[in-house]
Amino acid sequence: MRVITTIQEMQTEIIKLKSQSKSIGFVPTMGFLHEGHLTLLKRARLDNDIVVLSIFVNPLQFGPTEDFATYPRDFAKDQSLAECEGADFLFYPSVEEMYPHSSSVSVVVNERTDVLCGKSRPGHFDGVATVLTKLFNTVMPTRAYFGKKDAQQVAVVAGLITDFNFPIELIPVDIVREEDGLAKSSRNVNLLPEERRQAVVLYKSLTTAKETIEGGERNPQTIKNLVSNMIRSETNGLIDYVEIYSYPQLKALENIDGPCIIALAVKFSKVRLIDNIILEVSKEIGGVK
Ligand code: PAF
Repeated sequence: MRVITTIQEMQTEIIKLKSQSKSIGFVPTMGFLHEGHLTLLKRARLDNDIVVLSIFVNPLQFGPTEDFATYPRDFAKDQSLAECEGADFLFYPSVEEMYPHSSSVSVVVNERTDVLCGKSRPGHFDGVATVLTKLFNTVMPTRAYFGKKDAQQVAVVAGLITDFNFPIELIPVDIVREEDGLAKSSRNVNLLPEERRQAVVLYKSLTTAKETIEGGERNPQTIKNLVSNMIRSETNGLIDYVEIYSYPQLKALENIDGPCIIALAVKFSKVRLIDNIILEVSKEIGGVK
């Protein structure tokens, strides 16, 4: 595996590989790799001739009060994990390489951002879309892999790829969970031991919601109350949101019907966790996939 730190060198390598008709699988990350990322890498390895992993903690997508400075970083470990998963290139640019001067152009996302995480993180998805535009132009992937844990990010990236005509196939990959159901995240290390025990309730509340919908409940507010009450009574976490929307449009629903997402964000003392389930709901009782 080769580590590349400059945009120009990465582009030169990719152009060479593309001239040999190699397919390029791309896994963009902010590092501190966990099993969720490794699943994306494994999937990319299966589908493509060449696998590129990027590690870049993107300052543009963090708000002024967010955890850019304390975001966990461990390059040496990431490098050996990427190598074990068979990545061919690790693109690891500095902030100066990615943003050498104040930018004269940036990407603004118009839809799917005023709900869920986007609502409480103004500008976050603009930062994500801007860095991905730069990364896509650097790595020129055939396929790009994103975890469904950040389902809103998947919806935004789908819009970016379509609207800007990137010749890239978007591959959304299922959430990887700990044995007790907690969705894997780089940020889980910042949970206090008691909070880690409580955090299992997040997924438990989503599966209870799914079972209740399977039992015939179709009122979004009833489901939202059920999830919120479980989190309030069984954790010290502060609910940022519990929502149900159509997916991937992320529009409010009068009745739970068709593809939808139940998504939540909960703040613990040093970390904010997100989780979701995407359901295909039909009108009949029990009609949930
Ligand atoms: O999901 C992430 O880690 C980031 O938002 C991404 C896609 C690497 C862009 O910085």
